[in-house]
Amino acid sequence: MNAAADGPAAVKDAVKDADRKHVFHSWSAQELIDPLAVAGAEGSYFWDYEGNRFLDFSSALVYTNIGYQHPKVAAAIAEQAGKLCTVAPGFAVDSRSEAARLIAERTPGDLDKIFFTNAGAEAVENAVRMARVHTGRPKVLAAYRSYHGATSAAINLTGDARRFGNDSATAGVVHFWGPFRYRSPFHATTDAEESARALRHLEDTIVFEGPRSIAAVILETVGGAPGVLVPPPGYLAGVRELCDRHGIVFILDEVMVGFGRTGKWFACEHWDVTPDLLCFAKGVTSGYVPLGGVAISAAIAETFARRPYPGGLTYSGHVLACAAAVATINTMEEEGIVEQSARTGAELLGPGLRALAERHPSVGEVRGLGTFWALELVRDAETGEPLVPYNASGADNAPMTAFGAACKKGGLWPLIAGNRIHVAPPCNISGQDVAKGLAILDEALSVADAHMV
Ligand SMILES: Cc1ncc(COP(=O)(O)O)c(C=O)c1O
Repeated sequence: MNAAADGPAAVKDAVKDADRKHVFHSWSAQELIDPLAVAGAEGSYFWDYEGNRFLDFSSALVYTNIGYQHPKVAAAIAEQAGKLCTVAPGFAVDSRSEAARLIAERTPGDLDKIFFTNAGAEAVENAVRMARVHTGRPKVLAAYRSYHGATSAAINLTGDARRFGNDSATAGVVHFWGPFRYRSPFHATTDAEESARALRHLEDTIVFEGPRSIAAVILETVGGAPGVLVPPPGYLAGVRELCDRHGIVFILDEVMVGFGRTGKWFACEHWDVTPDLLCFAKGVTSGYVPLGGVAISAAIAETFARRPYPGGLTYSGHVLACAAAVATINTMEEEGIVEQSARTGAELLGPGLRALAERHPSVGEVRGLGTFWALELVRDAETGEPLVPYNASGADNAPMTAFGAACKKGGLWPLIAGNRIHVAPPCNISGQDVAKGLAILDEALSVADAHMV
């Protein structure tokens, strides 16, 4: 590409042209998309070639937990690249050992061994494999309102509509309803009722599927893509108890919510629950270099102490990615970013978003914690009918498209999913930028209000 000399407009055209000709994008009808050409990014902002700056309330895909271009992490990656870019996964090497130690020190309970992957779906894929080999059982139970990744087992575990085009109906997955009080599948009116009824439903599912055929129950600790679904008190402890009673492995998927997103290192700390396997990715390196993994309990690690684990990856524990993880974790620790995420949620985002809900009838519910929130947008404030139907596209989705356009026009990059906006800025966003983002949302929500019945 030689357009630099002709200025930013020519560079943008060249970038877009090559993208349109040669890049095949995720989840998209290729001719129906028009990706923004991004010229750079720093902190909580990115910008295009025309000088438009966007305050990123999506943290890319909910992974830039320390913001873009943190100088300490960028420098650590460069330093590692100068020293040793790569070495095969079978060797012991400093950045991998240190990343594993730092992660194991932060995961709860006896989750002390780390199997590294390149991303979240591979973490889920390997957690399921470990559970199946450990128990000798085939089935895995997963929630309808969930997303676990796009590889074969992960997308079949996924409950949301992205599974539909991939569902092989042969993956050994059984779906069940998790708790979600705002749209309760159990007609509950309190958190206590929702928790008890959701547990009863899961117990019935286990009994009627045959407990001895079930290897694992997998849950997102806080449902991410399905809408920032914060479990009611007692639910995760109840699932832990059911798994223990039936010898089932409990897998928590913390790919989106790990590493400070909810105001703790791992979201399961909020409820004092320790799974047998914990999947992570995204925030572990703030996405600077792809990395994921599974933190493994002592009992499951023991299964593979003298018996080979039947899985592996060329880039398991890639040296550059592990150096990025070490620098990210140390930076989060030094700068108190996990605590900042908790404070931002409690003092700024929570109160600010609830104030917006008071002013805008289209906001049916505000929920979240830390730097992880969702606004449920409704068409009818009385019934809570969603602003757009489930899995809407095209004209059916027009109100959400218009709302998203209003956010971008105001300079805010939103994360829109179904009838919701998810508010997930970097965990270290400044108070000033939170206020700015809330003011832009305030304006954009008038567009959603206008689409109500
Ligand atoms: C909870 C959860 N699990 C797994 C994944 C898949 O991760 P990846 O896209 O890195 O494979 C995601 C991605 O958003 C996720 O949110």
